[in-house]
Amino acid sequence: MTRESWGTRVGFILAAVGSAVGLGNLWRFPWMTAENGGSAFLVVYLGVVLLVGVPGLVAEFVIGRRSERNPAGALYRLSSGSKSWGAVGLFGVVTAIAMLSFYSVVGGWILRYFFASFTGSYFGSAGAYFDAIGFGLPAAGFHVAFLGVTALVVLGGVRDGIERATTLMMPAIVVLLVALAGWAVTRSGAGPGLSFYLDFDAAYLRANFLDVLGAAAGQALFTLSLGVGTMITYASYLGEDHDLAFDGSVIAVLNTAIGVLAGLVVFPLLFATVGGVSGAAAEGGPGALFVGLAGAFSELPLGRVLAVAFFGVVALAALSSAISILEIPVAYLVDEHGIERRTATGALAGLVLVTGSANALSPGLFTVVSGPLVDLMLTAGLVGFLLFVGWVLGSDALAEYSTGAGRYVRSVGPAWLWSVRTILPLFLLATLVANLLALAGVTF
Ligand code: PFF
Repeated sequence: MTRESWGTRVGFILAAVGSAVGLGNLWRFPWMTAENGGSAFLVVYLGVVLLVGVPGLVAEFVIGRRSERNPAGALYRLSSGSKSWGAVGLFGVVTAIAMLSFYSVVGGWILRYFFASFTGSYFGSAGAYFDAIGFGLPAAGFHVAFLGVTALVVLGGVRDGIERATTLMMPAIVVLLVALAGWAVTRSGAGPGLSFYLDFDAAYLRANFLDVLGAAAGQALFTLSLGVGTMITYASYLGEDHDLAFDGSVIAVLNTAIGVLAGLVVFPLLFATVGGVSGAAAEGGPGALFVGLAGAFSELPLGRVLAVAFFGVVALAALSSAISILEIPVAYLVDEHGIERRTATGALAGLVLVTGSANALSPGLFTVVSGPLVDLMLTAGLVGFLLFVGWVLGSDALAEYSTGAGRYVRSVGPAWLWSVRTILPLFLLATLVANLLALAGVTF
């Protein structure tokens, strides 16, 4: 059986951008920016994306294209059969299942808000509505619906399922988001929202630099889908003619632009309608997007139309990310155990149906999985992938990096490999330890 592959270069880039652009951009990014010094945070975040995110992305691409395998099979084979490295890859497969178990619950909420926007049924009672639907059996039901759509796309395979779906979805997301942002920033009363979002708060940054750096690093990994093996898996369906570092940079730029745009929709709307950020929205947390914006939409003329458009964008973005998460364990079963794509997708959807429902029924479990657990797993996973590229692949990694690369990209190859071997894993390990200490209640 020949292995599947992408149809076009643009198809691959859009699928990878589809993976990257998700709840991390539309929800997490604007809030992180607003809470960590506005445009001062943006500068730090851009630095981290450039110096950690892009090299990390390229490292995953190198593993994927060289091995033409899922993360577990890739590390096992490229290390000539080391069980320990195979286990590092398998850790990514497990992370993917944990991630999808909470991501799909949030996807279910979005689906529900999307449908409720047609009738405006949450208008006027934004907070109470979220409290009623957030957790419990109906939340589990919508999680199952979201998971079902995700599984249907993955079932279609790489070219006819994932590539076709993401090539349609990504342009739709960008067009809708640009239109919504253009509209939102020209509302009267949008100004304070923009300054809440983007004011350059250098004093905050100076006083909290290490925290901000840690937050920027966590955000960069999550938003670029790093540390799980999505990008390994997607690159495993690639040909030799791709310039991996160039494609990685394009993906990172598009991903960041979409995050910034999302903030330009969220904050002007909140300030122009409900007078700012208050209540549940001010505290962040899982319900904040829904409560804050739902309140805003109910204040607006044409609120239902706007709400349908907005939650439609979020739903598409979440779907294209969920697809990429499910593809990791599916590729693992197909590659390593010779299981048919259909059976593999069905079995994994069945598993996540159960684990996701547990999250939908238990807010406590959801909070742990969606926050600290996934953060730690992504960071540990990426450290493993970087060390593998730097120390096991070494010069082979450089050869793979250079294949298909232009002259300029090739000239930075040695610097890339050096940073992947040394400074990047050290930096990530430091954030990992700092996060663990923070969890244990140790403060500096
Ligand atoms: N990048 C996605 C987002 O920003 O919502 C989340 C994600 C998808 C993380 C896939 C990891 C992953 F493998």
